[in-house]
Amino acid sequence: MKVDVLLGLQWGDEGKGKIVDVLTPKYDIIARFQGGPNAGHTLIFDGKKHVLHTIPSGVFRPGTKNVVGNGVVIDPIIFKREITQLLEAGVDPRPDLLISRRAHLITPTHRLLDAASEQAKGKAKIGSTLKGIGPTYMDKTGRNGLRVGDLTSGKFDERYQALRTKHLGLLQQYPNFEYDLESVEDEWMAAVHELGELQLIDTEHYLNEALDAGKRVLAEGAQGTMLDIDFGTYPFVTSSNTIAAGACNGLGVGPGRIGEVIGIFKAYCTRVGSGPFPTELLDATGEELRQAGGEFGATTGRPRRCGWLDLVQLRYACRVNGVTQLAMMKADVLSGLEEVPVAHAYAHAGGTTQNLPYGIEPDEVTPAYTNHVGWQEDLTGITTEAGLPDSIKSYIAMVEKEMATPISIVSVGPDRAQTIVR
Ligand code: GDP
Ligand code: IMO
Ligand code: MG
Repeated sequence: MKVDVLLGLQWGDEGKGKIVDVLTPKYDIIARFQGGPNAGHTLIFDGKKHVLHTIPSGVFRPGTKNVVGNGVVIDPIIFKREITQLLEAGVDPRPDLLISRRAHLITPTHRLLDAASEQAKGKAKIGSTLKGIGPTYMDKTGRNGLRVGDLTSGKFDERYQALRTKHLGLLQQYPNFEYDLESVEDEWMAAVHELGELQLIDTEHYLNEALDAGKRVLAEGAQGTMLDIDFGTYPFVTSSNTIAAGACNGLGVGPGRIGEVIGIFKAYCTRVGSGPFPTELLDATGEELRQAGGEFGATTGRPRRCGWLDLVQLRYACRVNGVTQLAMMKADVLSGLEEVPVAHAYAHAGGTTQNLPYGIEPDEVTPAYTNHVGWQEDLTGITTEAGLPDSIKSYIAMVEKEMATPISIVSVGPDRAQTIVR
């Protein structure tokens, strides 16, 4: 069997959690391969809302195994809180939760370094979620990181102290940054030892053996393609490879074992944090989209920046991920618009391009729009493709043609049930 990958094609928050939950019955194993608690994946069913940060979105479907892969970074405090919230919701994730020994740990000082770095950058800040993501991946590639497997090595305390000492030295570079480490350190230590009592395994063996035995695996992406460390809007990106190739690194499966790559996008576009966003709407229409779409961060509560669908950006994302199927989300939010503008090209360097250029700052590209006929109907109760208004059917056909890729899922509301599988 192969690993299917589901990932975001824009700047995150496309609705990955919802669709992973919808697709989970088709799979035996759901595996997160990168990112950490910077992610906020929302699932809504039976009138209840759940937000997951590190735990895979297959957790609400009994019998599904949920793997936290080696490419993920884990904050034990947030992980513990997620488990507690699941227990309160009547779900015990622990029997089916498998954590890679190779996953790196986010320590309290990683979080301090993230905050200090952002503060020092002032206006140039990344707009990070302040979860310690950047510093943790820096220690991973810098070969100083602390891993889940260290918990059972007998050298955990020594390694933790060495990292802590290094970080306290680095924090001296930020004389204006005040912090109180002691207040969180005890809680972190307690949480990390609880993490150590969960099922810590070599997930690369587990996953490859499961595939050999015919098990079906879905890899769940976090963030989105435009936040990828290599292909995103650097430096306004996250610190991991969010693209399909990240599933190979982040789980230990070979490229030949990747099956379908399901790319998920909103019928419009959002971004949270700093960095270029060519189709951003800074006017009342942007505010209307934000309100209609409930565009406020699932992790930080920050208002999300909103804009029109950008086919140049989406084409690029399909290309670097090798997307084989698309899922279009939140078309219901656009109901009532006379016309839906879509960027089909950029004016760039004196000409026009449909290929995303190296720089997409406002002085580098200007989107060129085509106006698509809008749909007036409320889509949220529609359950079949045949029931969709003609204007949205032609919007779907237009995106499929432009991307040369089929849209296999259309989502018309946040609930698990508000999903049309074509
Ligand atoms: P993720 O990070 O990709 O999992 O996405 P988030 O959960 O951060 O953000 C997606 C938001 O849109 C959540 O509030 C979802 O409940 C909501 N949502 C998902 N799909 C739809 C949809 O088709 N229509 C509407 N109106 N909301 C949706
Ligand atoms: P999900 O999985 C949207 C953004 C942050 C910031 C940049 C770097 O829910 O789609 P980081 O904390 O990673 O160093 O922040 O990336 N960002 C996200 N934006 N959705 C996410 O995750 C995000 N995770 C990080 O806002 O601009
Ligand atoms: Mg999110």
